[in-house]
Amino acid sequence: MPTRVSSSAGFLVLSTLLCQASAAITWRNCSSNDTAIIGIPLNDTRVQCAEFSVPLDWSDTSAQKITIGLTRLAATKPGNRIGSLFVNPGGPGVPTSELIGAQALGFEFFPDSITEAFDLIGMDPRGFGLSTGIQCDPDLWNQRVTQFPSSQEDFDTVVSTQIQIWESCYNMSGPLLYNIDTRSVARDMEAVRIALNDGPLNFLGISYGTVIAQTYAQLFPESYRTIAMDGIVDHTSSATNLFFTAAQTLESVINQFALWCNTTDTTNCPLTGRDVLSIWNTTVTSALNHPIPAPGCIGTPASLLNGSCYANVTATEFLSVMRDALRLTEGNATAVSQTYAKSSLARSKYASATFAAVAIPCLDFRNALANYDDLRYRLELGSYIAPLSRGASHTWTEQMQCLGFGHRPTYPQQNMDVPWNYNPSPITFLNGSVEAQLPSNETTNTAVLLVQSKYDPSCNYLWAENVRAGIDNSTLLLRDGAGHTSYLLHGEASDAINAYLLNLTLPAPASVVAT
Ligand SMILES: *[C@@H]1O[C@H](CO)[C@@H](O)[C@H](O)[C@H]1NC(C)=O
Ligand SMILES: *[C@@H]1O[C@H](CO)[C@@H](O)[C@H](O)[C@H]1NC(C)=O
Ligand SMILES: *[C@@H]1O[C@H](CO)[C@@H](O)[C@H](O)[C@H]1NC(C)=O
Ligand SMILES: *[C@@H]1O[C@H](CO)[C@@H](O)[C@H](O)[C@H]1NC(C)=O
Ligand SMILES: *[C@@H]1O[C@H](CO)[C@@H](O)[C@H](O)[C@H]1NC(C)=O
Ligand SMILES: *[C@@H]1O[C@H](CO)[C@@H](O)[C@H](O)[C@H]1NC(C)=O
Ligand SMILES: *[C@@H]1O[C@H](CO)[C@@H](O)[C@H](O)[C@H]1NC(C)=O
Ligand SMILES: *[C@@H]1O[C@H](CO)[C@@H](O)[C@H](O)[C@H]1NC(C)=O
Ligand SMILES: *[C@@H]1O[C@H](CO)[C@@H](O)[C@H](O)[C@H]1NC(C)=O
Ligand SMILES: *[C@@H]1O[C@H](CO)[C@@H](O)[C@H](O)[C@H]1NC(C)=O
Ligand SMILES: *[C@@H]1O[C@H](CO)[C@@H](O)[C@H](O)[C@H]1NC(C)=O
Ligand SMILES: *[C@@H]1O[C@H](CO)[C@@H](O)[C@H](O)[C@H]1NC(C)=O
Repeated sequence: MPTRVSSSAGFLVLSTLLCQASAAITWRNCSSNDTAIIGIPLNDTRVQCAEFSVPLDWSDTSAQKITIGLTRLAATKPGNRIGSLFVNPGGPGVPTSELIGAQALGFEFFPDSITEAFDLIGMDPRGFGLSTGIQCDPDLWNQRVTQFPSSQEDFDTVVSTQIQIWESCYNMSGPLLYNIDTRSVARDMEAVRIALNDGPLNFLGISYGTVIAQTYAQLFPESYRTIAMDGIVDHTSSATNLFFTAAQTLESVINQFALWCNTTDTTNCPLTGRDVLSIWNTTVTSALNHPIPAPGCIGTPASLLNGSCYANVTATEFLSVMRDALRLTEGNATAVSQTYAKSSLARSKYASATFAAVAIPCLDFRNALANYDDLRYRLELGSYIAPLSRGASHTWTEQMQCLGFGHRPTYPQQNMDVPWNYNPSPITFLNGSVEAQLPSNETTNTAVLLVQSKYDPSCNYLWAENVRAGIDNSTLLLRDGAGHTSYLLHGEASDAINAYLLNLTLPAPASVVAT
């Protein structure tokens, strides 16, 4: 192990510290308990599980330990074997073990060329899945909180409700709640890589997994063979900047949808021949005043825990599941309510993936919403840039839900080249130690591949370009199409990722593919 001190990602890291964590990994057959947690059968005999112990707080490695849950699907052609390939499907809050289990069951996420050559490694990020999970009070969690407050009073209600929610999470989870940031996840991944003793890292980060990828590349620029990112999340820009670009990209996708409905495909669109944009606008405008009925849902607090959904849908809920909201049948929001319940409501205090999906960005992003005036500026900006979606986006949901979180971000946005915040305040850890945040100017010494679609409802093309510009040795491949992420399309963009992972070949700079 090198004893090199790196100032990557703005923090001093002694990479030798990681050696203390490198114990061997003991693989075992996955159990019915693992399956119960993940919800996808992990009983295929080719899937194996393991536990790995890491420090709760990487700045205090002697303190409390937590468990990282691992799954593995061994390479099928030993003669072709290259090594281990870590994958993360993002969310945050999607357990990687779910993806590994699904792949084993026959869902073709990875093509044969990849499964022949790599052991697929699923590391569930700390906080959920097979890793030590955070818990919250589900009844508090399931309260309905607006993301479009229209008065100081509304805003105060949002904050006080969320203080309660997050307090319950802290009461039930302890300091783990404040230690699930993505920099810690990248350090966990490096510790697991060292323990696997299988050469440099290969990693495919999808969506929020690209934040893990960027962080790892900065922290451990000499430890990887390949890092591919698909559907790029920007961890460099300010909160307002991210709000603006997220709203803009979603708005453009709504317009694309309307165009598609009118021109390209008239059989699959539920609103063929109608003025889609006007119906959309009327729906949102009226939902802001009166929730849309969802007659197929029961909607009592007890039934929510049993899998039902709210009996009506507010504008906040409608806009936060925007892509599925496009399936709305006018006046009947049952399908939208079901989607919202599935993605956002907690069925029990063990719904750690649901909780982590919101908590992780609260540590990874500075949201800069200190008061109601900040919010008014931002929503005014939203109505200007995105009149149809009113500034709604996954990003806005995160920014609003982090109000009242109770801890400042421990791994906020930082420019990978020139920091946008030149004078960040030092970070104080729970154990009282203080680390100065330094501008990071390290670049990677191994090529990185980025893939981004042009019409992505969740991630803006600008985000991908920011990340490309911040990582010296990176190539960005554009897909001239719609949809969040490209790998599952098994098209030209996926081929490029596979060629890179297998053969280290990269597309020419600024290449654009159609599929
Ligand atoms: C794991 O499962 C395989 C196949 O069912 C079985 O043959 C093997 O004995 C199991 N190993 C352990 C340690 O239980
Ligand atoms: C499954 O979990 C239960 C309850 O925690 C425990 O008693 C049991 O030993 C576990 N089984 C396995 C195979 O780990
Ligand atoms: C795995 O579990 C599923 C669902 O519980 C079951 O249908 C399937 O037969 C099991 N497969 C094996 C190999 O045990
Ligand atoms: C959390 O714990 C504190 C201290 O025990 C208690 O005062 C508070 O009411 C609890 N909050 C919630 C939301 O459970
Ligand atoms: C779609 O068609 C409707 C009805 O013909 C029309 O009112 C609307 O402007 C069209 N929208 C787009 C985006 O082409
Ligand atoms: C949406 O509806 C509101 C209220 O009826 C109206 O003021 C606005 O101009 C509409 N916006 C668009 C983009 O159609
Ligand atoms: C919406 O549904 C909730 C229960 O889910 C109910 O309490 C509330 O009265 C409903 N609101 C309207 C306007 O129908
Ligand atoms: C929900 O489930 C619990 C226990 O499983 C049961 O007691 C309760 O009646 C159920 N509630 C509804 C509304 O179905
Ligand atoms: C509402 O939509 C759901 C499916 O989304 C459908 O099953 C149900 O029959 C509809 N209800 C009414 C009253 O239209
Ligand atoms: C990064 O910047 C610092 C301070 O500006 C400088 O001391 C250091 O040498 C730089 N590191 C690299 C790798 O360029
Ligand atoms: C870029 O990556 C390639 C391939 O890994 C490597 O050979 C080259 O030295 C790197 N260039 C820079 C400037 O880091
Ligand atoms: C990798 O290189 C081998 C040997 O040149 C070639 O057969 C294979 O098609 C390449 N794979 C990809 C995915 O490009």
